[in-house]
Amino acid sequence: LRRAQDAVARHARLVPDFPSPGIAFKDLTPVLADPDGFDAVIDALASACTGAELVAGVDARGFLLGGAVARQLGVGVIAVRKGGKLPPPVIGVDYDLEYGTARLEIPAEGIPLAGRRVVVIDDVLATGGTAVAAARLLTQAGATVDAIAVVMELQGLPGRRFIADGVGPAVRVHAISLG
Ligand code: PRP
Repeated sequence: LRRAQDAVARHARLVPDFPSPGIAFKDLTPVLADPDGFDAVIDALASACTGAELVAGVDARGFLLGGAVARQLGVGVIAVRKGGKLPPPVIGVDYDLEYGTARLEIPAEGIPLAGRRVVVIDDVLATGGTAVAAARLLTQAGATVDAIAVVMELQGLPGRRFIADGVGPAVRVHAISLG
């Protein structure tokens, strides 16, 4: 965990006023582009996700993380996509973002989700809207969301409380770093 925290501290980039004025965007791209940083982050996320039977990576940077975590855990991975990307039938949820609104979707057929323990992986936890939407989708499909694991949790935003309220108090929330 310490190695991953050091990598985030060294490589993460703060972009002021993106994507809209007043929003400080935490860009973790350089962390993942660094071989040691990527390795450390995947190790830390995988350690937080033991027991998972499937990894769900959230559009878009969660795809990079989720695939590598799934490989390390020896389980499969699914992409939780932004709306309109998947062929029908889909299960979709509309949600509010820190800036604007969005929609997440997963396939409604072809992936056995009922009764499976799934972890949701993303790069950043801010308001929690994205994580809750992803967890709700998976729950609607019959899965049990064990944990939500992110690289960075933004301080001063009610992400954890939003998850506890929206998904349930049992879901574990793991963040490598606070930003
Ligand atoms: C960012 C980030 C998370 C989400 C966190 O994604 O990657 O998915 O916001 O915010 P929240 O906790 O307030 O919901 P973004 O919407 O920028 O999409 P992208 O990954 O496609 O760039």
